[in-house]
Amino acid sequence: MILLDGKKTSSDIKQNLKEEISLLSSKYGRAPHITIILVGEVEASHIYVRNKLKACKLVGMQATLIKKEDNIQTNELVEIIKTLNNDETVDGIIVQLPLPKHIDEQLIINTISHEKDVDGFGVINKGRLFSGLPCLRSATPYGIIKLLEAYDIDCCGKEAVIVGRSNIVGKPMAMMLLEKNATVTICHSKTKDLGSVTRRADILVVAIGKAKFITKDMVKENAVVIDVGMNRDEMGLCGDVDFENVKEIASYITPVPGGVGPLTIAMLLNNTVEAFKNKHREG
Ligand code: GUN
Repeated sequence: MILLDGKKTSSDIKQNLKEEISLLSSKYGRAPHITIILVGEVEASHIYVRNKLKACKLVGMQATLIKKEDNIQTNELVEIIKTLNNDETVDGIIVQLPLPKHIDEQLIINTISHEKDVDGFGVINKGRLFSGLPCLRSATPYGIIKLLEAYDIDCCGKEAVIVGRSNIVGKPMAMMLLEKNATVTICHSKTKDLGSVTRRADILVVAIGKAKFITKDMVKENAVVIDVGMNRDEMGLCGDVDFENVKEIASYITPVPGGVGPLTIAMLLNNTVEAFKNKHREG
């Protein structure tokens, strides 16, 4: 079994970005700039945002944090985003999710100009991904693709099974694996006899948010297992995969923490550099 080291891969990506940002800064007189909007007091969101800001600093990217109280209204957030859309000095905009229940999340996401939608969550970037066109890609599945590439794991003709059908991970993951010529199945909470499907997987991606849900008997011998889960149980942080037992039969497996998580941030930075380059017509 080989451990897929997301920390190492993300650190390599960030090192390359740091060098690229330094060159772009000298050429254009400023570094790429991301603005993060954080609403309310969800602890996990504050931790994610803090880690994103730390990573920006590390690579020399400009970052602005806009913090708002959770009683903000949809129209006020829309106005903030429109101002940022028109701000030439802002290259990337993200709104940390989840938003409070009274906010129209889809409207907010889709108010972000598709050129600045560095999370790749808006319908234009999603539609372009589904159409095989250049786009800003959802950072978590994009990071998983980079991790597979870093370990020379070939997807062509392989059976890829994704557990979870979210807009952020499951669905875009399916498109990206399809681009890599895998045969893709998406499973979800209504899938009958889940184990019989997951056992077919040469590449198994799990993103359902249930601690240690995927057990050894649900995994094929020598499968590549990618765990997107981040849960807390009585033992501390754990993924959606029963790591200790599944690692005995997997050929490759991501740990939690230190697997997929660090790559999400690296690819968010990558997307912001991409948005900056697109604006300046750099390929
Ligand atoms: N909440 C959980 N993951 C993410 C993410 O990748 N981006 C944003 N904006 N919010 C999130």
